Amino acid sequence: MELNTTESHDIGIAPEHPVSAAPAAKKVFVRTYGCQMNVYDSQRMTDALAADGYVATDAIDDADLVLLNTCHIREKAAEKVYSELGRIRDMKAERAEAGRELLIGVAGCVAQAEGAEIIRRSPAVDLVIGPQTYHRLPDVLARVRGGRKIVETDYAVEDKFEHLPQPKRAELVKRGVTAFLTVQEGCDKFCTFCVVPYTRGSEVSRPVAQIVAEAQRLAEAGVREVTLLGQNVNAWHGEGEDGEEWGLGRLLFRLAEIPGLARLRYTTSHPRDMDDELIAAHRDLPALMPYLHLPVQSGSDRILKAMNRRHTARDYLKLIDRIRAARADIAMSGDFIVGFPGETEADFEATLKLVREVSYASAFSFKYSPRPGTPGAEMDGHLPEAVKEERLRRLQALISAQQQDFIASLVGQTIGTLIDKPGRRPGQKVGRSPWLQPVIVDDKAGEIGDIIDVRITRTGQNSLFAELV
Ligand code: 5AD
Ligand code: SF4
Repeated sequence: MELNTTESHDIGIAPEHPVSAAPAAKKVFVRTYGCQMNVYDSQRMTDALAADGYVATDAIDDADLVLLNTCHIREKAAEKVYSELGRIRDMKAERAEAGRELLIGVAGCVAQAEGAEIIRRSPAVDLVIGPQTYHRLPDVLARVRGGRKIVETDYAVEDKFEHLPQPKRAELVKRGVTAFLTVQEGCDKFCTFCVVPYTRGSEVSRPVAQIVAEAQRLAEAGVREVTLLGQNVNAWHGEGEDGEEWGLGRLLFRLAEIPGLARLRYTTSHPRDMDDELIAAHRDLPALMPYLHLPVQSGSDRILKAMNRRHTARDYLKLIDRIRAARADIAMSGDFIVGFPGETEADFEATLKLVREVSYASAFSFKYSPRPGTPGAEMDGHLPEAVKEERLRRLQALISAQQQDFIASLVGQTIGTLIDKPGRRPGQKVGRSPWLQPVIVDDKAGEIGDIIDVRITRTGQNSLFAELV
């Protein structure tokens, strides 16, 4: 899966109308692991539960329902979920003594991969629900309240997006001026290290009308920047409003017409699906931010072949040349895996060489982690942990130096900044650069949602300090 995975987020949203006299509303606490799509999914699950009378809470102790939205991409993700479930089970037992119910749900990719095994290992869990079925959450909860355990991981025949309730405008406003919007889900590429085709299923594109309507609602709620999401977002395609087949490039042009939407991004892409129209969008569409996450995973053709990436290092470099010819100031980001089975020192050095040739503004790198059920896990030549660690350190040192160089190159430049939140210190606000660094500006520089030109005066670790021009 090629969406950036981050640490866990709590999508806790305070109750909108705390009422003291009326019976308290049921509360849900959602913990999100993994990628941006899980962040989006957690919001949509919260919306589905809101329509069912739940309000979100960011205090787990307050919750009547705890939902873990899990990630299966690397490492002992499932193990982390089980140990978290252990803690929540103890909470549930304490609650039961006090005569109050606590329901526990596991959603997301671990739910999809493990299914009923989760309830077998962790009997306190009441429901397991996959990424393609979470629109059925209210229905599943109704069944669970009858005292049953429910596993809902079959791929739904119906379109979940058609069945999910729309969030209230006030809710969208609360979520801020940047938003995610899933346009594509699943993957048919079957890279040999990757579990995504098994957890998220095969590639599905959402229809144009659905996407445009959702983007319009976001814009009406004050959203200025939308990031289109998909495991293979640039494989998105669909019938356009003109009856023609559109690719992601056309879709971006259409979304840029929506009043208020000033910035667009998309993530994550596969090099094989970067078509001419998408590259042209980078040239012709000012709203499309000059920052592209284009994972390559390795710089060695031998390893790329074993990974089933279906392109060479040279294909990738040539593609970047074409993208840079279209948009000279584009900054690149990527993902790398070190220590894939059979990777030699020479293979690894080819990766370092590719990184030097591209020069990334930022990049994510990971030690190979065998995923059960993927072809990579069955291959010969698994490397010792120490070798993976040593390679990861070298790669990360190189990437981090490139990232510092990139940030340093911004000092003195005037850049557009979307002000998106109050600063941590009084007298400051925080904006977002075109390349996603936080930009610290004076409180009076503008209001949240404004896009202003600022001059970068100095840099922090991964942040920029700026003055108004
Ligand atoms: N081991 C290590 N890294 C992985 N990724 C995906 N699967 C694995 C795995 N089995 C990385 C890839 C992908 C990113 C989201 O996670 O680099 O692009
Ligand atoms: Fe996984 Fe490869 Fe599909 Fe990305 S393209 S989600 S890495 S199988």
